[in-house]
Amino acid sequence: MKYSIKTGSPEKINVDCVAVVIWNKGALSDEAQHIDSVSNKSISKITRTQDFTGKLGETQLIYNATGVKSKRVLLVGGGNSKNLSSKNAVKILQAGLKAVNRLSMSTVHFALGNIAVKDRSAIWFASRVSQEAETSSYRYNETKSKKSKALTVKAISLSPAKGGRRKALELALKQGAAIGKGINRARYLGNLPGNICTPTFLAKKATDLANKHRSISTKILSEKQMLRLGMGSLLSVSAGSAEEAKLIVVEYKGAAASSKPHVLVGKGVTFDTGGISLKGGAGMDEMKFDMCGAASVMGTMATIAELKIPLNVVGIIGAVENMPGSKATKPGDVVTSMSGKTIEVLNTDAEGRLVLCDALTYAERFKPRSVIDIATLTGAAVATFGSHVNALLSNDDALADSLVKCGEQCLDRAWQLPMWDEYQSLLNSNFADIANIGGPRAGTITAACFLSRFAEKYKWAHLDIAGSAWHSGAQKGATGRPVALLVEYLRSQKA
Ligand code: BES
Ligand code: MN
Ligand code: ZN
Repeated sequence: MKYSIKTGSPEKINVDCVAVVIWNKGALSDEAQHIDSVSNKSISKITRTQDFTGKLGETQLIYNATGVKSKRVLLVGGGNSKNLSSKNAVKILQAGLKAVNRLSMSTVHFALGNIAVKDRSAIWFASRVSQEAETSSYRYNETKSKKSKALTVKAISLSPAKGGRRKALELALKQGAAIGKGINRARYLGNLPGNICTPTFLAKKATDLANKHRSISTKILSEKQMLRLGMGSLLSVSAGSAEEAKLIVVEYKGAAASSKPHVLVGKGVTFDTGGISLKGGAGMDEMKFDMCGAASVMGTMATIAELKIPLNVVGIIGAVENMPGSKATKPGDVVTSMSGKTIEVLNTDAEGRLVLCDALTYAERFKPRSVIDIATLTGAAVATFGSHVNALLSNDDALADSLVKCGEQCLDRAWQLPMWDEYQSLLNSNFADIANIGGPRAGTITAACFLSRFAEKYKWAHLDIAGSAWHSGAQKGATGRPVALLVEYLRSQKA
């Protein structure tokens, strides 16, 4: 998709469709007013009928308005024009894009230059236009013999905000598109079935990323290499699987070699049967999404390479398949992690933390400024937050605060749960240094407590995305979260 800033009166812009906002009770935005006055009241004729009232998200097409160059005018309901929230601004964009994506045409102009979003800049809005344009055009086609109809829109332009600097707005359009593409990348990987998206497949995709971007290099560790490093915990998860586990290390260099990196660690369980502690059958297909943490790391790495952010960032993905089998780890087995700590595996379905703990120990070698792990770790996170929030736990309050702020800014929100010492004793084991489950209560917190034992040497935050990473039901599919949050966080860091 091509994005640009186009100045001039909306009726004079030569595109296949020009979109304008109508506020509640049919109040015309400045741009709508312009079009209305040159086109013999083509818009107010409609709003006067009350057929279209400007309710948030409503859309209506007008064809062949006189005096308007564009063949179509799309009215998008904006709701209340006062104190327009960022969330509602996004809803306006999504409604407009949904209508546009249904049509057969190649160029669209969003005449939304005078929209003022509360607490957000015109730059934020421009970036969001292209981000939403990208994510609205995502379609899953990978394993369908009949592909969905290709979208025809090739170019989207935007009116500049009053006083907005053209160059800065154009840059924002580019950046938003890069974020949208990163989100789509994560959705693509998340949605692929477990028989295609294996650890080896993820490793291949990471290598492809390095081939595409000169600033990225990839290292793939085999099971043999992980064994040599002592990653007995990670390897215990893949013991029952025919698929070989991989540790995928993706390094992005955007700053001097001496600049310490931020590290992202992704849970990449390409399918989670639960292992010997086998899950129930209902809905088990959704455990193909158990690599969405890894997918978000891949999407984020792709985006920051596009954005050329001036930081060094390392992505580490523990990619495994969790299966029962004659060689599978059994409840009660004790394994030794790379840190040297021994772990009693009381439940083989609490496998994510067994993978992450060795990846977290591996992260130490980068002397990281911060480490964030991203994992579909606990059903308890879904029970606590539903699908709207990323659960956040951290050993550093400043890091947690900045993630909450960044989440608010990009609307990919996180909310912090406590990790007080009182919870740690739930992980006591009679037979090892630590048990891999803390009992039925406070599951998201005890999972994070487990991880914290392996993250003592740096500032660390944990995002449990079990609720946010995918939708169930009719809209079943990966959301691409929390790519936006991770990109926002990295962009907010000083070089
Ligand atoms: N991948 C699951 C977590 C999960 C479950 C995410 C349902 C989304 C929906 C994880 O590996 C798991 O099985 N966790 C267990 C841990 C328990 C055994 C302590 C859980 O949450 O039930
Ligand atoms: Mn599990
Ligand atoms: Zn899992």
